[in-house]
Amino acid sequence: DTPLRDLAAAKGKVIGTAVTGSKLTGTYGDLAGSQFGSLTPGNAMKWESVEPSRGTFDWTEADQIVAFAQAHGQQVRGHTLVWHNQNPAWLTDGSWTSAQLGTLLQDHISTEVGRYKGRIAAWDVVNEPFNEDGTYRTSLWYNGLGADYIADALTWARAADPAAKLYINDYNVEGVNAKSTALYNLVRSLKERGVPIDGVGLQAHLILGQVPSTLQQNIQRFADLGVDVAITELDVRMALPADSAKLAQQAADYKAVTAACVAVTRCVNLTVWGFADSDSWVDSTFPGYGAATPYDANYAPKPAYYAIAQAL
Ligand code: XIL
Repeated sequence: DTPLRDLAAAKGKVIGTAVTGSKLTGTYGDLAGSQFGSLTPGNAMKWESVEPSRGTFDWTEADQIVAFAQAHGQQVRGHTLVWHNQNPAWLTDGSWTSAQLGTLLQDHISTEVGRYKGRIAAWDVVNEPFNEDGTYRTSLWYNGLGADYIADALTWARAADPAAKLYINDYNVEGVNAKSTALYNLVRSLKERGVPIDGVGLQAHLILGQVPSTLQQNIQRFADLGVDVAITELDVRMALPADSAKLAQQAADYKAVTAACVAVTRCVNLTVWGFADSDSWVDSTFPGYGAATPYDANYAPKPAYYAIAQAL
């Protein structure tokens, strides 16, 4: 069978997966390297991973993933620079003034983006800034710096690597709704202000049978605004145990998402959040749910895999 990355390339798309560095050997490494044209570190580039103690950096896993990607002719999506989760305890202990927080954030972005300058195709600069109703999420960053933390982070990222595409990434923004409209309005205003923003990431952590009917329309409205779109963290979880009817529905869901991306020229990347059911965050995060990826726990392709291939 033709690898997914080649099918995607023929359509002008890049297909990716989230990966864990320590697993990039054996069958997992073979599949990650051969089937996908883009890798996203699942955790390795998050602040708590790269700077567990203040001023003490650990780039081991991030470096490993970037090197693997280069060896396999793959892009890397950097994930993620500014988020309310997975920050080191020293950063979130409440001891910093607003001015200090701003300096810490600028240094973090300059250091991390600068380290990988020229090797990261796209950065998820800001992750999950919105609430479901479209208001800004209260977070370390919003509370300390106000909504301008988003524009500042993008500006600092651009300065550190002018070639990297800069994204804002969020979940439950796949269809047209209050949250995706807030994201749309933010991107429009950033562009009006001349703030560097190149794309939006739609995470797409979906539930079986619930692909939003407005997905393609939503991708298109961002494209029409003049930014790229990426499906950044696709998975489709189901209540366990899986059965053939659920796997068939899941295949239809993967196919619908893939087709929506293929239909819009500016949808440039479709990334799954782990390619095998044994390597998914779903089972531990959503008790009773799982089987969310295109390969089963033994790395055998599921109906969802063939559905993606068919839609590419
Ligand atoms: C998840 C990882 O997959 C898990 O291993 C980790 O324990 C928690 O974070 N949205 C995101 C990702 O942007 O960074 C999250 O990744 C999943 C939800």
